[in-house]
Amino acid sequence: MSDDSEPWYRTAVFYEVAVHSYADSNGDGIGDLQGLTERLAYLEWLGITAIWILPIFPSPMRDGGYDVSDYLGIRPEFGDFDDFRTLIEQAHRRGIRVITDFIVNHTSNQHPWFQEARLPGSRKRDWYVWTDDPSTYSEARVIFVDTHTSNWAWDEVAGQYYWHRFFDHQPDLNYDNPAVRDAIADAMRFWLDMGLDGLRLDAVPYLFEREGTNCENLPETHAYLKEIRSMIDDEYPGVVLLAEANQRPEDLLAYFGDGDECHMAFNFPIMPLLFLAVASDDATVVAKELAATPDIPRGCQWSVFLRNHDELTLEMVTSTQRAALYDAYAPDPAMRKNVGIRRRLAPLLNGDRRKIELLHAVLLSLPGSPVMYYGDEIGMGDDIVLPDRDGVRTPMQWNPTPSAGWSDADPTHFYLPVVSDDAYGPNRVNVHDERADEHSLLSAVRNLIAMRPPAFGTAAFKVLNPGDPRVLAIARGEFTVAANFSSAPLTVRCGTDSYVAGNGTIKGNSVSLPPYGWLWMGPA
Ligand code: BGC
Repeated sequence: MSDDSEPWYRTAVFYEVAVHSYADSNGDGIGDLQGLTERLAYLEWLGITAIWILPIFPSPMRDGGYDVSDYLGIRPEFGDFDDFRTLIEQAHRRGIRVITDFIVNHTSNQHPWFQEARLPGSRKRDWYVWTDDPSTYSEARVIFVDTHTSNWAWDEVAGQYYWHRFFDHQPDLNYDNPAVRDAIADAMRFWLDMGLDGLRLDAVPYLFEREGTNCENLPETHAYLKEIRSMIDDEYPGVVLLAEANQRPEDLLAYFGDGDECHMAFNFPIMPLLFLAVASDDATVVAKELAATPDIPRGCQWSVFLRNHDELTLEMVTSTQRAALYDAYAPDPAMRKNVGIRRRLAPLLNGDRRKIELLHAVLLSLPGSPVMYYGDEIGMGDDIVLPDRDGVRTPMQWNPTPSAGWSDADPTHFYLPVVSDDAYGPNRVNVHDERADEHSLLSAVRNLIAMRPPAFGTAAFKVLNPGDPRVLAIARGEFTVAANFSSAPLTVRCGTDSYVAGNGTIKGNSVSLPPYGWLWMGPA
């Protein structure tokens, strides 16, 4: 399935994995790198071609590891550098690339840089962003609205306020300081030297602050990204930079630069609209958004996704759309987090196989490279009782035992509990049983990945008009995709008379789709 004329990430299928929840090799109740390495055979079988690993840096773990206390280390519970190199080697041997999160915007307040910066007269003071006047940068929005009302926090030792776009235990680095820019670039080199294939640049829009702006997407941020990209091109060709920028389309597009910033960017705007379309029996919102999706520079690629380790963000939709999404998917206030919904794919869709498969089929055929979230391939559930976003980060369910086969530790020592409810517990949802069942969700997802034409990653796209708002129809090069976002069986005109995959039927150019049915058509 590889096309040598294309960069690897344009035909890749990514899989996002939280090391701490995937597989525990040493029985301490925390997943680790060796555990993940042992599961590479499963990932190869599933057919994914790249993994994205959530942060593995030493961390107080008050924000899932996004609170870094050392850029040049590995959290001891996860293993050591040998384990990491082994993971990369073994993954490469199976044709799987490895990218990791890299947290550019902030550190933990436990990072020695911050501890030093707080001290009176410290030479590191300007490694972070300080003020005596907390009305500075007042136009910047607060992102974690459930827990914070300001982006400034008072530091007793420093006698000043420090800037933080996320939790107040995560001070933002000061990118106006060249020493910071260099230290971060060097930390990237440190990891890339181990053979990594890419970095997900976490929270990348917020690197610089300027009065009178919303402190997002500033020209200075783009200038720094160009520097990083030029370092990658010179020193690490083939490595991919993936921008996490939850922004409106026009601002998001800027992260590709002129093909001289990030190679990839998550397509945040399209994601919630897929859920809105399913909830409202109307694919128009998706069709419109796609039609408005601009061309991106050569060699660049969208990263498309349904769910991830965060809340399903609703920051970038209109207030009417947001209300409709909350109504449909988060009836219980405990399901809401910040401006979003902290639930997994299967429970969001009421466990409806037709909808889960439809969204997978659409995900795999949208322009871009799909990123699947661990556990969604088997239809894992969530646990909204757990704090913050932990409810969507519970242990991977490998087998039907109560501990789900992910760890031999006493369950009371599990870092996070296994989902235990009737519908989504391991006795109902697990890799072992689903692998043995050719009609399972896992088998269906695996087939989809196997059937996915590489052209879905690389071909130009065009939104078609199938004559029914309930159907999304797109041309992808020689292929046509038709997806029925409604509960009614429908017949529309958009066929190509040849079948690749799906559960509809084709007669001439007339296509019949069952409720939530879909078709991939084209040169089989
Ligand atoms: C990550 C979140 C994290 C936040 C702050 C985000 O972009 O995806 O999980 O909480 O950055 O670090």
